[in-house]
Parts: sequence; C-alpha cells; structure tokens
Amino acid sequence: MRVQQPVPQADGIDNTMALMKEGFHFIPRRREELQSDIFETRIMGQKTVCMGGEEAAEVFYDNERFKRKGAAPLPLKSALLGHGAVHGLDGEEHKQRKRMFLSMMTPERIEDMKEIAVEELDKKVSEWEGKNRVVLLDEMLELMARTGMRWAGVPFEEDEINRRTQELTEMVDSFGSAKRLHRGSKARDSHEKWLKDLIKNIRKGKVNAPAYTPAYIVAHHREPNGKLLDPDVAAVELSNAFRPLMATAYFIVFGVVALHEHPETNDKLKRDENNYSQMFTQEVRRYYPFAPAMAAKVKKNFTWQNYKFKKNMLVVLDLFGTNRHPDAWENPGEFRPERFKNWKGSPFAFVPQGGGDHHTGHRCAGEWTTVMVMRSYFKYLTENVSFSVPDQDLSYDLTRMPTMPKSGVVISDVKKKRESADNIAQEEASQTVIKS
Ligand code: HEM
Repeated sequence: MRVQQPVPQADGIDNTMALMKEGFHFIPRRREELQSDIFETRIMGQKTVCMGGEEAAEVFYDNERFKRKGAAPLPLKSALLGHGAVHGLDGEEHKQRKRMFLSMMTPERIEDMKEIAVEELDKKVSEWEGKNRVVLLDEMLELMARTGMRWAGVPFEEDEINRRTQELTEMVDSFGSAKRLHRGSKARDSHEKWLKDLIKNIRKGKVNAPAYTPAYIVAHHREPNGKLLDPDVAAVELSNAFRPLMATAYFIVFGVVALHEHPETNDKLKRDENNYSQMFTQEVRRYYPFAPAMAAKVKKNFTWQNYKFKKNMLVVLDLFGTNRHPDAWENPGEFRPERFKNWKGSPFAFVPQGGGDHHTGHRCAGEWTTVMVMRSYFKYLTENVSFSVPDQDLSYDLTRMPTMPKSGVVISDVKKKRESADNIAQEEASQTVIKS
C-alpha cells in the first residue's frame, strides 16, 4: 500500500520577499537544498506548492488535474497577460479560444512572420552601418514590435513606433518587481485602448484587415455562445497574438552572446549542417532564462508520487529549472547545441514556452514563430553581417525577472556582406521542421 507523505517545507513563514529577491534562483535553490523536486511554501500569504522536472511538468500539464482559473496573480494580469486572456481559461472555453490562436499559425503565416522579420532586420542593418555603436537589445525590441504589428495586421504610423515599442516592452518587462508591474499596467491601459478602437473599426468595416491576420481573426471570432468577443477581451487577445514576440528579442540577444562566447558556433551556423541553426536556437531557449515559472490550481483532489494535492491548492512549475534538470540534461549548465542532435524530444523536459500539447493544453501558441524568427536571425547575423563586440558587461542577473545581458549587448563596426536577405529566406523555406 502506498503511504502518503507530507510535501517537504521550505524555510520561512512567507517567502514572497525571498522570491522577489532571488528571482530565477528561488525554486531551483530550494529544490537543491531540500533534495526534492517538490516543496511547499507560502507566497503572498497563500500556501503554494513548487515543483520542477520532467515528471512534475507532466502532471502540471494534465488538464484533468489542474486548472488555470484564479491561478495568475492580479497584478500579472493587469500588466503582462491581460484580463480575460486565453492563459486563464479552462475546458471548452480554453479549447475554442486556443483554436482561434492556432488558426493564425498556418505554415504560410509562420513563413510570413519570418519574411517580415528578416526584411525589417535587413533595413536596420543598413542603418547600423553608419553608427559607432548599436545597443542590440533596444534594436531587437523595436524590430520585434514592427514585425509583430505588421504580421498581426495592426496598422501603425512611423512616428508611433517608439511609443508602441515602449508600451510593448514595458508590459513584457513587468514581471518580477512591483514598480515594473505598475509601469506595465499603465502601458497596457494605453495599448489596449488603441487595440480596442482598432477592433471596433474593423467590425464597422472602417479598417480593412486581411482575413488571415490576427486583427481580422480576433475581431470576428465568436465565443461558444455565438457572440463576438467583448471588445475589451478582443483587445487583450489581439495583443496576445503579437505582444509576446517581444520576448524573442531577449533570446536573440542571448544568442548573440553565445555566438561571442563560443566563437566556433559562428562557422557551424553558417554551414548549417545537420540543421545546426535549429539546434543552436533550441539550446538558446533551453540555456538562457526568460519565463521563470507558471502557476495553476488543483482541479480536484489527487495523489501524485505519494503527495496529496488538494482542490484549489496553488501549484507553481519551475520552467527555468526544468530546462536545466540534470535527470533530463547532461551537464545542463553548459551551452552545447549538439545536445539536440539526437535528442528524442519531450513535451515536458524542455519547457521554455510551457509544456504539453499546443492544441489541448496551455503550451505557447507562438512557439513555432519564435523558433523560426530566432533561427533566421542567427543565420542572417552570421552569414550577412560582420560586427565587433567591444569590451562590455555581458553577464546577466538571475535575480531580475525577466533578465538580459547587463550591457544590452553593444556591437560596433557593423558591415553588411553581399549576400541578400532574400537568399536566406529562400534557403530557410525548405527547413521549417520544428521539434519540440
Ligand atoms: C520568446 C518568446 C516567447 C516566450 C518565452 C513565451 C512563453 C510562453 C509561456 C511560458 C506561456 C505559458 C505556458 C503555460 O501557460 O503553461 C505562453 C503561452 C502563450 N503564448 Fe507565448 N511565448 C513566447 C512567444 C510567443 C509568441 C510569439 C506568441 C504569439 C504570436 C505567443 C502567444 C502565446 C499565447 C497565446 C499563449 C497562451 C496559450 C494558452 O494559454 O493556451 N507567445 N508563452
């Protein structure tokens, strides 16, 4: 007979302050100290179970055992995710809303995203040629804003680009600090107001959005009750179709750091044998931090690995720590793209954008576009551009969420090589296999 055991307890009465102070270290550090992939603590006064690793991810993404309603803290919804967003839905409601997002992600549209992204990068590189120094993170954030809005069918004037980029950046940069959450929430108010007007104008026929774009799809999407989405929720979901692309900017600059710190990868990327650009991209997503963790609530009582999970208990899955769990990854603290060469694939061991199934679960709807944009940027930057990386602080602070290289990654002496961006786009068109 299986004997139930208590979940190991982390030190401290309430660990909210420790979480804010330790950031990405918070869960992995306690898992290590307690020698357990599961432990219990209190966050904002609430009993919270934290888990990490492949097996924990598998149970966490089981829709029969976990739900999302009421799991995300209110400030996070106001700043990062939006109220009424797909992230917090369950059951049939989630399934139908998720289908809306996945209908945007056809192979043609994923290809479109790549082409827009590379076209924008190609223009930027020409501007960089005349500059003494370029702060890559700032440039990538603007590039992702431009790409996301164009792809989503969201019109913008050239003189708005700084404002829209800043709003999008402030929302994505919000989690992990009370001050930044407040700033993100103000940015979201303005951002949603803009998108709500757009939705109304599309519905009235005043703005003509092509039928394949998220702008059109969200504006005309109907809920299970047959009604159009409430305009506030429609604005939130239209934002969710392109705002998260901003996170890709962080992974791209981390990838440039990897290229600098592991110079042998440059040549391998150029040759791209055995789909190296795919392996490199996956390793960037595994090794470097972006999303620290996800929260869910227990749907009904169950027992897992002799631990009792009670209905409505808050459970947090350590995404960052799962990507570096030694049971699934050999020498997880080393940056080694080749580890993906013979990787068997697992929807639960590699979870930079959530785990499980894209269609039936909460796994990120933008994972394919993220991978595609990253790959095409790494290839473009190694094949079409030469640049220097002057002395600077490329370290990143794991106590900040999200985190980025401290210097923002400064490059100089930028020169465009002769090959055109079109060559890359054509070459890549034949290599669009995404492994998860
Ligand atoms: C580096 C880029 C990105 C990162 C790190 C990221 C991360 C994540 C994470 C951690 C989740 C939550 C998984 C869960 O709930 O368990 C998620 C969900 C989601 N992401 Fe992304 N994402 C990225 C890019 C994108 C892009 C480009 C899009 C859209 C074009 C997108 C759209 C979504 C949507 C709609 C969901 C909600 C899915 C659901 O609840 O069913 N993401 N993402």
